[in-house]
Amino acid sequence: AAAAAAAPAGAAADAGPAPEQKPVAVLYGTEYGFSKEIAEKLIGKLKECGQFWPRLLDMADHAEGYPLDSEQALLVVCSTQGDGVPPSEAREFCDWLAGDLAPKVAGLSFSVCALGDTSYTHFCACGKAVDARLEALGGARCVPRADINREDWKAVDAWIEAAVASLLQLPLKTFAQSSGSASSAVLQQSTQKQKRWGKQRPYYGTVVAIEGLCNIRSAEDKDTIRVEVDLGDSALTYIPGDALGILPTNCPQVVEELIHVLGADGEAQVSVPAWHYEEAEPRSGTTMPLHEALSKCYDLRSPKPELLQLLLSTIKVPASPQELHTLENGYASSNGKVHEEAELPNGKLANGHAANGLQNGHMPKVLQLQEERLRELLASGESSIEAYFEPRHVADVLQDFSFAKPALTQVLGALRPLLPRLYSISSSTLEAERRVQITVATVRYQSLGRARIGVTSTYLAERLKVGDKVPVYIHKNPDFRLPADPARPIIMVGPGTGLAPFRAFMQERLLGRADGGAKLGEAVLYFGCRRSDQDYLYGDLLESWAAKGALTLFTAFSRQQAHKVYVQDRLRESGDLVWRLLEAGAHFYVCGDAAHMAGAVEEALLSIIESSQGNGPDAARVYLAELTAQQRYQRDIWY
Ligand code: 2AM
Repeated sequence: AAAAAAAPAGAAADAGPAPEQKPVAVLYGTEYGFSKEIAEKLIGKLKECGQFWPRLLDMADHAEGYPLDSEQALLVVCSTQGDGVPPSEAREFCDWLAGDLAPKVAGLSFSVCALGDTSYTHFCACGKAVDARLEALGGARCVPRADINREDWKAVDAWIEAAVASLLQLPLKTFAQSSGSASSAVLQQSTQKQKRWGKQRPYYGTVVAIEGLCNIRSAEDKDTIRVEVDLGDSALTYIPGDALGILPTNCPQVVEELIHVLGADGEAQVSVPAWHYEEAEPRSGTTMPLHEALSKCYDLRSPKPELLQLLLSTIKVPASPQELHTLENGYASSNGKVHEEAELPNGKLANGHAANGLQNGHMPKVLQLQEERLRELLASGESSIEAYFEPRHVADVLQDFSFAKPALTQVLGALRPLLPRLYSISSSTLEAERRVQITVATVRYQSLGRARIGVTSTYLAERLKVGDKVPVYIHKNPDFRLPADPARPIIMVGPGTGLAPFRAFMQERLLGRADGGAKLGEAVLYFGCRRSDQDYLYGDLLESWAAKGALTLFTAFSRQQAHKVYVQDRLRESGDLVWRLLEAGAHFYVCGDAAHMAGAVEEALLSIIESSQGNGPDAARVYLAELTAQQRYQRDIWY
């Protein structure tokens, strides 16, 4: 019974190891669920062998550590985020592992599968750190660490196979059972602690305000809204710099269109992998009607590349001329919406012609074209596949290849989970303790002849109403924080919605002063938008702070004069002020667009440092590196 208690966190809550079974812990740390998917596959493989008693453990459930020394074998799957940090909910576990409280693990066989993305500087940093730490604590690596780029399943499968094969060689450890039960109490304690609100368990807050922040008549393509959510009795709390995670639902028309294209019954019950969806109130199992699954659990925009493989493998000659007729005409239009792009000839074939072809045993022309196009795409590499998917919904892809007849469950298996979206918090709890505000840009554009806007921004801007419940959680952002000492100056650069966290910074400082009485350091803000009469977010508030002397405000209205003016131009113009404050210990923050703005701002900052120091570009870079090391240069940027 003690052994059974050791498995509450995972999938394998069975009666404990049989005498000849080796206990194996599979521990994962995940941001978006890929690590968990791998860990679950690994558990399946271990079970197939019959010799193991595998348990699935989530780092998020072991914030205060885990009795690693009670394990004989430990397989870790862990991803790396942004600047080389662990997944947000795995951070505390990783800190614990790196710290003095982690136990020595002499005799532990381990291996790490590190997930990452080679386009980031700190590729697989978290997995590498865990791997090195387990060795330093005395563990023995059973197979070398695998560093996985993106979703390279081939490399993942190779690691799984090697790890399982190596553990099969492991002798059965006789003390595993007794030591396992001794530690199970600790484990049980740590997993039975109330699970916190998080991505897997969002809190349903109440929307208390949705307010447009722009004069949209002058900018039809762009709007920004302020959304305010009551966190009720959740006890959720945040500090400036944190983000609000929102779990959106898909647009009903997009769901309907996909159900139509699939020819499926929206009421049909489908089973959804647990990591795609978990509700505040756990339901029995994860079976739900198709329309609900498509609306809440699946990303209907960016499928896995496997979808194309699936379509290719299920393309088949229709059974009857009638079916052929439907297919050839079906993919040219759906729900009356005509696709204007002409990458495939839109069923141009005369029907009689094609039907003859069928009778004669020839492949219909359109089918051939679809098959060719699929082969071409699959051979063209990841970036071309992404470029093909980019403007399309899953329904569009299925329509492009209407002769493919995959089963519904196969299609669902080729979809990604619908991910939460993070928005920098724009408010301070000092203003309203249980409320949280975000600033959301909604950008509209045309693609393939249709109006498009992002899933979460349409959800917030168009489908959510005041009084509705919205699933949220707080995403901690320890790398974007006000200085501990309020007397330190701060320099904030935040054009567009990049302003969001700085509104929170300012509120926190100004409201905090009333009771703290600490003398505040100087605050400087660089804000940029198109025009002062169009998208000047919180303009009145910013100007009132400036008028009170609480803020030195620089604005760059890019489209208000003949030439463009951006925040980086304002920075350069006020280089003396920036340098004076940096030398006085200022913290420098950048928030917003990573693709262009953040780089241009960094260049401007480097040139200010260089001309102030007068020691050339290398010395300027060293100065900036020191700022970064002292956590005085912090960025919250996104693509
Ligand atoms: P633009 O759209 O007129 O080019 C918020 O979106 C503001 O950021 C807008 O004024 C926008 O200007 C501006 N912006 C666009 N590209 C930028 C860049 N590379 N650096 C800084 N600001 C930029």
